[in-house]
Amino acid sequence: MLMCSIPERIRKNERGRFLLMLAYTVFFLMNTSSAQIYLPGPPPQNPADYGKVILDTYSSTSPGAVVFDHWLHRSKFTCRLCHVDIGFAMEAKATGIRAATNRQGFHCGACHDGKRVMDGKTVFASCSDESNDKRCARCHSLGKPGVREYEYKAFTAKFPKARYGVNWEAAENDGLIKPIDFLEGISVKRRPMQSREDFSIKAGYSWVNPIIFSHEKHSIWNGCELCHPEIFPTARKGTVKYSMFSNIDGRRCGACHGKVAFPLNNCRMCHDGGPLWAQ
Ligand code: HEC
Ligand code: HEC
Ligand code: HEC
Ligand code: HEC
Ligand code: HEC
Ligand code: HEC
Repeated sequence: MLMCSIPERIRKNERGRFLLMLAYTVFFLMNTSSAQIYLPGPPPQNPADYGKVILDTYSSTSPGAVVFDHWLHRSKFTCRLCHVDIGFAMEAKATGIRAATNRQGFHCGACHDGKRVMDGKTVFASCSDESNDKRCARCHSLGKPGVREYEYKAFTAKFPKARYGVNWEAAENDGLIKPIDFLEGISVKRRPMQSREDFSIKAGYSWVNPIIFSHEKHSIWNGCELCHPEIFPTARKGTVKYSMFSNIDGRRCGACHGKVAFPLNNCRMCHDGGPLWAQ
């Protein structure tokens, strides 16, 4: 029955792959969280945990592991500012953030220095030798309820929502957030970016809807350097081989989608109106 609905023009040797794709489509749509195999499951049940990074390499015993939330920071800053200008890795725990680097004004300390004023408030300082348990606990907060000022539900109450949490694109379009892209003393002044043409990524399969990729929108959030050359090492469109396999593996589009940008089980956001997953 299922095979009958596959268009004739699909070549035979694509069928095996088709069935595999179908299998993980079903997997995604079922929203199973108990999978044994490695596939990115659905986003966390609690949207407050989407894009949460726990930093516990050096601090887990004392003063306690650090919780970094993208939902709070991305409402205030572009991805580019942190991941290019400040230089945070696009991978949890890969940067080597230490109390010392923070104290010297790098990493979290680039903003959390107790001096910078943002939104009319002095940003609280990060690690130091003084004992200020209350301040320390705002970051070293894992397993310490009630120590933080910002709480997901209250903070995002007015933001438009999607299934997995905030619809960030809509929040920006509605003027509810205006992420900053420049940090005095850290960012260098650049010429305004030349935006690139948007283009369509055509899947190699007739039953997969092409993807309209907005270069312009992605560049506003990410700048060019976040994608080129590391995630998309190309100067010519069409040279990168990508597939849902690499996306699911956390590469290509999956370097952001599924971790911080909207998750991969929102098929329709990329495959507009695809026939197999259109509901
Ligand atoms: C205020 C700074 C800041 C902003 C803004 C920010 N990030 Fe991050 N991001 C971080 C830090 C810090 C980490 C953790 C790095 C580490 O542990 O070495 C991280 C980690 C990540 C990771 C890896 C997560 C994982 O679980 O492996 C991805 C992907 C990512 N960021 C994407 C983005 C995207 C996309 C945006 C914009 C929508 C963004 N970030 C905005 C600071 C930021
Ligand atoms: C680009 C600037 C910037 C960087 C880099 C940055 N932050 Fe922040 N962070 C802010 C601002 C601004 C606030 C809001 C502060 C306020 O309103 O008091 C904030 C708030 C927070 C809060 C909320 C505290 C609370 O009481 O709810 C935590 C936790 C936090 N940051 C952790 C971190 C950690 C950990 C890092 C490094 C991995 C980091 N931040 C890097 C700018 C930054
Ligand atoms: C803005 C967020 C932030 C605040 C506030 C903060 N820290 Fe940290 N601190 C970090 C991060 C991030 C790490 C690295 C965590 C890891 O990987 O284990 C860290 C690590 C540490 C470490 C581990 C040792 C090391 O070499 O890295 C100590 C000790 C520490 N902080 C002490 C403090 C003390 C004491 C305070 C309060 C006076 C404080 N921190 C406040 C973000 C913060
Ligand atoms: C972040 C964007 C994004 C999302 C979300 C997304 N895809 Fe894809 N998908 C892609 C890209 C990019 C390709 C590669 C296009 C090509 O083949 O050139 C692709 C290709 C495919 C293919 C063709 C086979 C292959 O591996 O190339 C299938 C089938 C597919 N996607 C199914 C899905 C399903 C089912 C979902 C939802 C569970 C989904 N996709 C969600 C971006 C996305
Ligand atoms: C979110 C990731 C992302 C961002 C941000 C991004 N690009 Fe791209 N870029 C791509 C992808 C994906 C391709 C297509 C690669 C392929 O299919 O071979 C591409 C292709 C290109 C190409 C070759 C195709 C063409 O249009 O001529 C150029 C040049 C390029 N990008 C420049 C830029 C510049 C300049 C910026 C910043 C203004 C930028 N990119 C921002 C993902 C990105
Ligand atoms: C460097 C991080 C990054 C990479 C890589 C990336 N995206 Fe995105 N993308 C974002 C962010 C951030 C948003 C804003 C919405 C959000 O955060 O959920 C977004 C939004 C989108 C949107 C909705 C906005 C629009 O364009 O209409 C689509 C569709 C999309 N991405 C497709 C893709 C595809 C396809 C790829 C791979 C070719 C890709 N993205 C790679 C970060 C990324």
